[in-house]
Amino acid sequence: MCEQSGDYMTKPTKEVKRYTITAALPYANGPVHIGHLAGVYVPADIYVRYLRLKKKDVIFICGSDEHGVPITIKARQEGVSPQQIVDKYHAIIKKAFSDFDISFDIYSRTSNAIHHQTASDFFRTLFEKGEFIVKTQQQLYDEEQKQFLADRYVVGTCPRCSNEKAYGDQCENCGTSLSPTDLINPRSVLSGNLPVLKETKHWFLPLDKYSKWLSKWILEDHKDDWKTNVYGQCKSWLDHGLQPRAVTRDLDWGVQVPLEEAIGKVLYVWFDAPIGYISATREWAELRNQQLEASGKTEKVNWVPYWKDKDTKLIHFIGKDNIVFHCIVFPGMLKAEGSYILPDNVPANEFLNLEGAKISTSRNWAVWLHEYLQDFPGQQDVLRYVLTANAPETKDNDFTWKDFQTRNNSELLAIFGNFVNRTMVLTLKYFDGKVPDKQELTETDREVISQISSFPAKIEQSLEQYRFREALTELMNLARLGNKYLTETEPWKLFKTDENRVRTILNISLQVCANLAILSQPFLPVSSRKLLGMLNLAEPGWNEAGSTALLKAGHQLNQPALLFERIEDDAISKQVEKLHSTKQANSEEAPEANPSKPEITYEDFAKMDIRTGTILEAEKVAKTQKLLKLKIDIGIDKRTIVSGIAEFFKPEDLIGKQICMLVNLAPRNIRGTDSHGMILTVEDAAGTLYLISPTEVVNNGSEIK
Ligand code: MF3
Ligand code: ZN
Repeated sequence: MCEQSGDYMTKPTKEVKRYTITAALPYANGPVHIGHLAGVYVPADIYVRYLRLKKKDVIFICGSDEHGVPITIKARQEGVSPQQIVDKYHAIIKKAFSDFDISFDIYSRTSNAIHHQTASDFFRTLFEKGEFIVKTQQQLYDEEQKQFLADRYVVGTCPRCSNEKAYGDQCENCGTSLSPTDLINPRSVLSGNLPVLKETKHWFLPLDKYSKWLSKWILEDHKDDWKTNVYGQCKSWLDHGLQPRAVTRDLDWGVQVPLEEAIGKVLYVWFDAPIGYISATREWAELRNQQLEASGKTEKVNWVPYWKDKDTKLIHFIGKDNIVFHCIVFPGMLKAEGSYILPDNVPANEFLNLEGAKISTSRNWAVWLHEYLQDFPGQQDVLRYVLTANAPETKDNDFTWKDFQTRNNSELLAIFGNFVNRTMVLTLKYFDGKVPDKQELTETDREVISQISSFPAKIEQSLEQYRFREALTELMNLARLGNKYLTETEPWKLFKTDENRVRTILNISLQVCANLAILSQPFLPVSSRKLLGMLNLAEPGWNEAGSTALLKAGHQLNQPALLFERIEDDAISKQVEKLHSTKQANSEEAPEANPSKPEITYEDFAKMDIRTGTILEAEKVAKTQKLLKLKIDIGIDKRTIVSGIAEFFKPEDLIGKQICMLVNLAPRNIRGTDSHGMILTVEDAAGTLYLISPTEVVNNGSEIK
């Protein structure tokens, strides 16, 4: 049922005084979608709600990440200021999270003064401790725009995989992180011009200095409790060797570098953003203390222990693209500063796709949270449920509307909702909604009672190990248990002949409902509140679960109401059509202006030896998402190539396919394999790759001219 790898987190969890839980600060350059929710915010919220129910001291921190080049680029495109962009999206994102009951203690933002102060002080501390190295370097510069081309201000060809749209900080095709000067044929995003080199000075955090310490801390100390995907990525970074990282940029949007000699420079967004967790905690404490004071309380909260006391567990919930920053760079910064604790765990998730394709903000290929709520008002729990049941915990997963409907109708409604409803309605009918008392117990009753008591520990164990899908499956198993019990004992047939038996059955069934109400709180906050209301129970804590005396005999229940609604085919078709028209619009849209390349002669063209070949073997390259290793018969020989097409083709579907291939491309080593050529593909406007094949099968090795 559950595809957990089962090979991580066997370490017993240590008891601590308090928890600091952070969720990645989303960039305020667009609204949030289901991928964000599934990967980061729902699991974080489940975990925090669980801790609160356990009466733990916990703060849940998030906010908008308002610096960085994507924001200034967006502002430029829309002809507004960066502040206007972040103001707009900060408000949209904040509302979406609150609508989905993501229960942050604070949702802050990095354009706040308190953040600028905190980040600036942090930099100064490291500076004064001599933790930085300063380097003067040649960097790409746009002469027309009079601006250095940091990060995403420059695009060019990836030196590793030849993707022509690699950014100055990263190639999204092969995942390699890059420096602007690594790019082949760089172009300025501002003007399209060829950049020149110009000298500039920057401050670097010498991560190489920490590599020994990081290797021990991650690879040894966290060998057993970090997720396999997280551990693997860290190991690969550490194995490749860490380099000093520039933490300043020549930009005008961000936190000013607090040094005389650095006027006009700002902190790199990945330096300031994680400090945002600390600034937000400080802001939370200030606001909380104002509230406490206003309500006449003398008690005060303090942000410091949440970040500096060894008895605090710090946990970062993030998506996989943030792993290096949270596991290597930020811990490096914290260690260099010296007075902070380090994360105990970083349970990063993989990505969620939508109907078979990668979620994309620019292509509008997404389910936006604010739009979902317009179409399914009041149904936030359904989405939370589906995203948890299908969370990309150990691999990328796919969200489909069909699956959404099935999980609602056949799981939430048919199992959970139906059980609760049958129990409540029968109690109302036979006992005027008063909890009947248990009579003599049968073997079946005893068995059910004993099973009920085992659920909290099972769910708890999964939650403690950040296995939210598994925890949710267990919760549903409790509802299944209740359903089965009712179906087998058939109390509706017994009332006339054996009222006492009915009393027992409904009492036990109601105890199951009460347990469901407690244990579902982290996952389904709206429905569990509704259920607690129906059961007329005032917020019981997690530790009360497992008991079959939660509802006393004679306790008056409230009127039953339906917890979940059936989702009809119509509603689903509407969503599918919406995506279909997005796809249509994307393909009709004039292809992104990729201007023609400079003219070449026939001789230039003739240098390329392009031939037909048949794919003989295909396999994924281990530890990569996009790469396939292919063996191809090209008539003249059989050779191996590595191709970045794994997201679009299953290896087994490729075998036997005839393709076209550039065979005289100089061999290159890609992730440890020598690649002898390149197969030809075409990318449509929606970003999907297709192979190019002759319309009829021809001999392998036939030349394409
Ligand atoms: N804004 C980043 C992203 O969306 C995440 C920043 S997390 C923080 O990928 F640690 F830097 F805050
Ligand atoms: Zn690349």
